[in-house]
Amino acid sequence: MDMFVVQGGHALSGSLSVSGAKNACLPIMAAALAVDGCTTLHRVPQLADVRTLSSLLTKLGVNVRREAAGSLLIDPTGIRSSIADYDLVRTMRASVCVLGPLVARLGRACVSLPGGCNIGHRPIDLHLKGLAALGASVRIERGYVLAEANRLKGATVHLAGPQGTTVTGTCNILVAACFAEGTTRIEAAACEPEVVDLADYLNRCGARISGHGTPEITIEGVGQLQAAEHTVIPDRIEAATLLIAAAATGGTLQLNEVEPRHLLTVLHILQESGSRIEVSDRSISITGPQEIQPVDFVAQPYPGIPTDVQAQLTALLSRARGTSIIRDLVFPDRFMHIPELCRLGADIRREGNSAIIRGVPRLSGAPLMASDLRASAALVIAALAAEQESSIRRIYHLDRGYEQLELKLTALGGHVQRLVDSPASLPLPQPAESLPVRKSA
Ligand code: EPZ
Repeated sequence: MDMFVVQGGHALSGSLSVSGAKNACLPIMAAALAVDGCTTLHRVPQLADVRTLSSLLTKLGVNVRREAAGSLLIDPTGIRSSIADYDLVRTMRASVCVLGPLVARLGRACVSLPGGCNIGHRPIDLHLKGLAALGASVRIERGYVLAEANRLKGATVHLAGPQGTTVTGTCNILVAACFAEGTTRIEAAACEPEVVDLADYLNRCGARISGHGTPEITIEGVGQLQAAEHTVIPDRIEAATLLIAAAATGGTLQLNEVEPRHLLTVLHILQESGSRIEVSDRSISITGPQEIQPVDFVAQPYPGIPTDVQAQLTALLSRARGTSIIRDLVFPDRFMHIPELCRLGADIRREGNSAIIRGVPRLSGAPLMASDLRASAALVIAALAAEQESSIRRIYHLDRGYEQLELKLTALGGHVQRLVDSPASLPLPQPAESLPVRKSA
């Protein structure tokens, strides 16, 4: 297993281009199995999650291969199985995105229920309710979803749950509805840019989808789709993560090949916390503040502050000059990063789905443990802003959603080393009068 060793206290500065969006790429790769012919996807990031889904598609009999840098070819001609087994689905919840495409193409799907994960309970009841509304028979047996449909029929599908709508649930229903007879209306659909990107790809393949990006999407069933070429949108969560890292270290950063309109609420929060932001149509420039101002925010569905950026903003606000109160309405338990940030000296208290962040003047380096994808990003940001050295173990969490993050941060002046995690590679803190020294018995 790999770890990061980070020397804090260096401002990030420079410019770089953002990778393709993980959360757009995954549902499009899954949808490609329902499309006739070979789909060519461009700007596909080199991520562990992309490799995991490629393995799953290959096990189904789909031919997936990387072409020139950043392109992926997906040819489902040889598809021979409708079973997505537990071993792969448990490592990546987004595997559930194959559910709708399998029912659409093969009339059946056997997909393992995704396990829980560190950010909280992850049910898929809304996905199943939507497929049933389109005429599929759906049952759960021994940890698997078994869905079958000889013929899908257009219907009105309502996707609001207790925590709001569902992004991948909207993706599953979007694909299945393309193959249903008649018209489907999705109410309370997710509006995320990644859902819009999937709809744009499907329309390029001959689908007739309208209203995507709003809570009401209409799909005219077409029965068959023909493969097309598509370039994945830039990753707004990676962009936000890099901007927050620049703000937290008081640096200056220009991001290119990014969609500023996908990030408007994040840019607003960064300005409120003291950063200076300049935007052009495909780039964002930030100058971090000398003094970080406290800001309250609520993580909620798009276009609100993304829950996938909540941990990173918490890391930034841990050094604000005052107290910030934040809430996560999407994943009320998404606070695994708090105990680790407190090991760096942050003063953060969780209360239910909220956290009270009392800003401290400085953070000091410490050994840390990553727990999930975005919590890991928060630890990297805090370590970059802390004084002295930090180590972050279990960095495989980060590799799921960030392409060579250590290289990007190093290119911007950050001191981030990737090492193999072994006791020998960990420089132990030198005992000093301030550290508790165990008295020999
Ligand atoms: C997608 O997950 C993203 N993943 C997540 O990003 C993101 O945090 C999330 O949307 C919210 O924006 C991908 O796109 C691959 P949801 P998804 O279904 O679709 C509840 C990252 O870090 N819910 O929109 O799984 C659910 O428990 C990842 O890149 C139901 O109750 O999330 C949650 O509270 C993490 N029933 C809320 O809805 C359902 O059937 C939103 O979940 C489905 C979801």
